[in-house]
Amino acid sequence: LRGRSLSVTSLSGLPRWEDEELPVEELLLFEVAWEVTNRVGGIYTVIQTKAKTTADEWGDNYFLIGPYFEHNMKTQVEQCEPVNDAVRRAVDAMNKHGCQVHFGRWLIEGSPYVVLFDIGYSACNLDRWKGDLWEACSVGIPYHDREANDMLIFGSLTAWFLKEFNIDKEAGERQIYHRYCMERASVHCAHVFTTVSEITAIEAEHMLKRKPDVVTPNGLNVKKFSAVHEFQNLHAMYKARIQDFVRGHFYGHLDFDLEKTLFLFIAGRYEFSNKGADIFLESLSRLNFLLRMHKSDVTVVVFFIMPAKTNNFNVETLKGQAVRKQLWDIAHSVKEKFGKKLYDALLRGEIPDMNNILDRDDLTIMKRAIFSTQRQSLPPVTTHNMIDDSTDPILSTIRRIGLFNNRTDRVKVILHPEFLSSTSPLLPMDYEEFVRGCHLGVFPSYYEPWGYTPAECTVMGIPSVTTNLSGFGCFMQEHVADPTAYGIYIVDRRFRSPDDSCNQLTQFLYGFCKQSRRQRIIQRNRTERLSDLLDWRYLGRYYQHARHLTLSRAFPDKFHVELTSPPTTEGFKYPRPSSVPPSPSGSQASSPQSSDVEDEVEDERYDEEKEAERDRLNIKSPFALSHV
Ligand code: UDP
Ligand code: G6P
Repeated sequence: LRGRSLSVTSLSGLPRWEDEELPVEELLLFEVAWEVTNRVGGIYTVIQTKAKTTADEWGDNYFLIGPYFEHNMKTQVEQCEPVNDAVRRAVDAMNKHGCQVHFGRWLIEGSPYVVLFDIGYSACNLDRWKGDLWEACSVGIPYHDREANDMLIFGSLTAWFLKEFNIDKEAGERQIYHRYCMERASVHCAHVFTTVSEITAIEAEHMLKRKPDVVTPNGLNVKKFSAVHEFQNLHAMYKARIQDFVRGHFYGHLDFDLEKTLFLFIAGRYEFSNKGADIFLESLSRLNFLLRMHKSDVTVVVFFIMPAKTNNFNVETLKGQAVRKQLWDIAHSVKEKFGKKLYDALLRGEIPDMNNILDRDDLTIMKRAIFSTQRQSLPPVTTHNMIDDSTDPILSTIRRIGLFNNRTDRVKVILHPEFLSSTSPLLPMDYEEFVRGCHLGVFPSYYEPWGYTPAECTVMGIPSVTTNLSGFGCFMQEHVADPTAYGIYIVDRRFRSPDDSCNQLTQFLYGFCKQSRRQRIIQRNRTERLSDLLDWRYLGRYYQHARHLTLSRAFPDKFHVELTSPPTTEGFKYPRPSSVPPSPSGSQASSPQSSDVEDEVEDERYDEEKEAERDRLNIKSPFALSHV
């Protein structure tokens, strides 16, 4: 966009248009009014007189949309063909689908283009559009109000035109028009059309022009442990492995307490904005500020697991793990020696002299090892040599917001631009193990038809952040009364500005950091309790229904529609957890004293298992619905 027309806000760093510098040659302007070429009153004068200044600014990219009346057309409009391809396609498409759309130049000062709809010609759609209006906003138009009925037809035709227009142009500009056509054709040829979420259903209805017959949410094969705390044990076990990696990565800078360090991560395809890595980074910068300002002793280590083009691990990262291993080996051999001397002393019936139990050589080896942990550079923000280092969007943003893993930073970042693998020499864990060891998955997607990553977190009992633009987020919003209490944080990216969404995400993250260990354990238990909802054993029924429906449409003689009643889930909701206030942040004030003492964990577990049991009895499992 030629740089000149974009400015960057100082706070959020998100691009913003500067009013005076709109790149009008790349945009189109539509002005819609009933009085375009149609004099009724003063509005006509407004539009007609204003046209010149608008046309001076927008030139041939300025279009007025109005109603077609034969007399007006004959006296005021010079008919012509649209030069703009997208406008021509939209006009043609509507005419092909039974409308009458006229195009020309309005013969007034500025001579702007006009698109005029024949209202009478499309009046046959009136009842349908009345139904749509009623569904959308519960407004009913009486039969005898001719003017209001005409307005509805005009409005509906305008919406139709803009939809036709948007989509083809956008697809064309992205050079995916052929793909879009293939997708649309397959959707229209299918006996039954399904999407994986309500949010994609809305998209399909607008873009592909067909409402899905069935929404088939994505499931998982949920592994249930017989003991409720088993997944908690796995968390502790794999967290220790991540801690080990962090010890190596931050060697020489390990001035933070690993017991008070939280591991956050984002993972998936490297689509910087779609996956919300942009707003996540911005929130992390704000979180860093909040934690520092409040002198928090919590440290947050954030992993970005997103594959990019690389040239292997970088030396500094490998060195970190080598240094850690060396220190471990030295500590181990000194410990062995120490243990042997201690044992011998005890056998002799003596308490060894602690000042001499380590000899000079031991001390030298240890001092040398400590020297080797000195480093000139900061712990790296990426584990690999990135091929496109200078233009990589994550690295560029890290540079801009200055999250360089300084000692003073409470938020540390590590980009691991490769999917995880248990055979990696650096972080030998597979993805599932890694997720279990983390504290929070953060997936603030802007575009996400479903989003498996937060669903996977849920069935492993790890809380996550998702959005109301992701299929998973909407599904949880629908089926869980208080998602936050269950560790499902849903950022509003649909109805809020980017900056507000970013603030909301920051608040979620900051609230999460303020929880005690006890609260995190409780929250994980609740998260895990939602897994039934995501189990294929439950969600598989939507596919079953789609298959029945297909057969009944393809072979109506053999398969009857009665067999295909859709699964009933409406109204099913997980209630608020029984024993607790509405959200973890709310529970902070009322929960018993928070504690990090391990001994108390067993009691907490016991309390929590009781809560889980109570809720199990209260909550009708989603499986029960199969009998509805
Ligand atoms: N994933 C993986 N290894 C990793 C990180 C992610 O296998 O190191 C998987 C993850 O388990 C999930 C998938 O990548 O199943 C991402 O799916 P999602 O629906 O979240 O996003 P999509 O790729 O469809 O946009
Ligand atoms: C699990 C383990 C506990 C451990 C806890 C740590 O619940 O069973 O033994 O104390 O995880 O939780 P944290 O959120 O601090 O990693």
